[in-house]
Amino acid sequence: MAVDPSSLQIVVYPAPVLRQVADPIGAVTDEVREIASRMIELMREADGIGLAAPQVGLRWRMFVAEVPPGEERVAEGDEPSASLGPQVFINPKIVDPVGELEAMEEGCLSLPDIAGEVRRPPVVSIEALGLDGAPVRLRASGLLARCWQHELDHLDGVLIIDRMTQMSRIKNRSAVKRMEKEARV
Ligand code: NI
Repeated sequence: MAVDPSSLQIVVYPAPVLRQVADPIGAVTDEVREIASRMIELMREADGIGLAAPQVGLRWRMFVAEVPPGEERVAEGDEPSASLGPQVFINPKIVDPVGELEAMEEGCLSLPDIAGEVRRPPVVSIEALGLDGAPVRLRASGLLARCWQHELDHLDGVLIIDRMTQMSRIKNRSAVKRMEKEARV
């Protein structure tokens, strides 16, 4: 693999890597840990709350998230809607979604200038490996649950422009076209 973490940058739509299905990570090595820590740095520099490996050009099933308390909209029951510091999930799966789909506006570091309403289940669990290679299972609601689902989508090549409500699609259509056009120049 041999990726230089300092060379990583956030890639924007329509970079092809954003449309690919990422591969599971075979072993949680020091290289993986270094890249995770660089991804946390890039996410913070960009004022984001999540960043997935394909967004830094890597077809790896890994994402980072950091949802500060206070940014959450509503707490759903007892599930946390914010993270206590940065989280790293390797080979993650979203399981046990509950509740009626809720619409909320989402943005994406790979789609600057685009924001639209996406409907998602309000409470989910995540199963993944942590940075020490051990399995973790966490449950969340609110913005944290939304963030995990958004980042997991990135690992399957899915973007918010695929999931937005019809109204948001129409609203963002020219911005999406502009990005596609700029990439061709
Ligand atoms: Ni995103």
